[in-house]
Amino acid sequence: LRIAVLASGRGSNLAALLAARDRGELAAEFVLVASDKAQAGALRLAEAAGVPTLVLDPRSYPDRRAFDLELFAQLAASGAELVVLAGFMRILDGEAIAPWVGRMLNIHPSLLPKYRGLHTHRRALAAGDLEHGASVHFVTAELDGGPVVAQATLPIEAGEDEHRLAQRLLPLEHRLLPAVVALMAAGRLAWRDGGPWLDGAPL
Ligand code: GRF
Repeated sequence: LRIAVLASGRGSNLAALLAARDRGELAAEFVLVASDKAQAGALRLAEAAGVPTLVLDPRSYPDRRAFDLELFAQLAASGAELVVLAGFMRILDGEAIAPWVGRMLNIHPSLLPKYRGLHTHRRALAAGDLEHGASVHFVTAELDGGPVVAQATLPIEAGEDEHRLAQRLLPLEHRLLPAVVALMAAGRLAWRDGGPWLDGAPL
């Protein structure tokens, strides 16, 4: 499976995907890592792994839509069959996403549908939730609103702050995302009739 990854930050989820591939747990070829931040650590990881990289600076585009159209044109040109958002911090235009619905996954650090958007750990703590987690979902025009494929959960510990909670959640993300992408690569997870199917049955 040819995969392109979009990342804006340090890239620990990208690293987890590459490691899963190296361990033989993910039958994938990484064709591109693209970022909106030239300094993203994810780009350094991609370079070290010999994966082609692309930086699109939003300031070089007249508007959000122009940026997104260029990004998706580059994704199509890369031959990617699946696009994985791994810490990509831009909201993508619904029209640009449309052709990729069913071929784009995102990992979001909350137990969706709770806490769509930003500051998810802080919001779970503020709500006094007993548990938190991460979700991998198909990307649709609705921000963090596409069908959830799988989730990982962990108990919230008394007195911890959002940074500690985020740090404790990351290792679970690093298992969850590669596992879901591996299901796609194995043809076990697919998109049919407008929704996700797993092992031949609607999810
Ligand atoms: C992760 O917590 C992910 O859930 C969220 O942003 C963070 C990205 O971290 N979307 P990294 O860049 O993969 O280390």
